[in-house]
Amino acid sequence: MYADLLIHSAQMMATMKGFSTGPACGNAMSEIGLIEDGAVAIREGMIVAVGTTAEVQAGGWVGPDTRQISARNRVVTPGFVDPHTHVLYAGSRENELSLKIKGVPYLEILKQGGGILSTVRSTKLATDEEIKAQTGRRLQTMLSLGTTTVEVKSGYGLTTEEELRSLRLIKELGSEQVLDLVPTFMGAHAVPPGYSEEEFTNYIIEDMLPKIAAEGLAEFCDVFCEPGVFSVDSSKRILVKARQLNLKLKIHADELAASAGGTELAAKMGVVSAEHLLQASDEGISGLAKQGVIAVLLPATSFNLAKNSYARARTMIGAGVPVALATDSNPGSSPTESMPLVVTLACLYLRLSPEEALTAATINAAHAIGRADQVGSLEVGKQGDVLILDIPNLNYLPYHFGSNPVGVVIKRGKVVWEV
Ligand code: NIG
Ligand code: FE
Repeated sequence: MYADLLIHSAQMMATMKGFSTGPACGNAMSEIGLIEDGAVAIREGMIVAVGTTAEVQAGGWVGPDTRQISARNRVVTPGFVDPHTHVLYAGSRENELSLKIKGVPYLEILKQGGGILSTVRSTKLATDEEIKAQTGRRLQTMLSLGTTTVEVKSGYGLTTEEELRSLRLIKELGSEQVLDLVPTFMGAHAVPPGYSEEEFTNYIIEDMLPKIAAEGLAEFCDVFCEPGVFSVDSSKRILVKARQLNLKLKIHADELAASAGGTELAAKMGVVSAEHLLQASDEGISGLAKQGVIAVLLPATSFNLAKNSYARARTMIGAGVPVALATDSNPGSSPTESMPLVVTLACLYLRLSPEEALTAATINAAHAIGRADQVGSLEVGKQGDVLILDIPNLNYLPYHFGSNPVGVVIKRGKVVWEV
């Protein structure tokens, strides 16, 4: 039995091994399972051997038909996992840039019918093919920047019919292109005109959630828990119902307003992950640690909201909260597809070390979307999702920003993108 692909001679290979059963917390976030002169062998899409080049070669995996790629002077890592995106939509919102520069707050734009509601309108007007074509291009950009697995939220539909359409399109895209997509239902993304918050919450609970669950279209349910959008109370009602329907839970918590209670709700409900957390309180943070809730931090959103406000990642890591990183890719608060940019911002503004940032962008991110048994590390039995980065060492990854460090992307053992 020979491997189909051997990547060998890596200057350094970060395997991220040892955290497949639980995310890395505290000091363990710096353990990246480093192998010098590293090699990884893949057969039928799965990793069959990991070690030094000499060890893997001695394992007898290399046959006459094994494709070999040298990673000499380069860094090898698992594919990035992006565990929080709103990448399925049509249209764009560059018109909001000038408002933002003038200081108009994000939620004010939403209140005036812009923001999320503007993307809801452009998505509704687009055909399925247009939405898929636009989203497919963004997914291809993600792939070229090293993302091999991505969570995708609905939430630009806001009617049962349109939310179902979005989730069906996510499913179709999942089977038609290279990245693995993990679907999340986020009907509680904004309150559309014509509804009170309570009426729309009831509609989500009574109509949207049962239909989405019946079609098996989502793995997770997420809620934008924020004063002026969905209160802690409404968020809780939605999440309780989603849990009854066997969906796993996520919360957009304490993104904009000071300590509004979303983080505490995340801890109380023991959700899989709490996201954003810019304004999370000390009690909220210790609650997340106690419950093992993963903090998904989105520094590109902080950067793009331009308020010099970032999540307190060091406090979280110190408290034992497992931290993951994501792009939040969306047309408003974070119009980017780039996990390398997120890694740079995480190091500079969340004060993560490059090792912690890599953990947060791979294995901990995989835990945040229930995929740590399949992706997020280079270990025997996992999917062959591997990056060869055109950089000489790991510090170089956050250091040199704004261009693409990715040389080769391998998805399930196949080269799917290369420079
Ligand atoms: O995570 N906070 C709510 N949702 C997104 C923004 C979506 C949009 O602006 O279109 C976020 O920031
Ligand atoms: Fe988001």
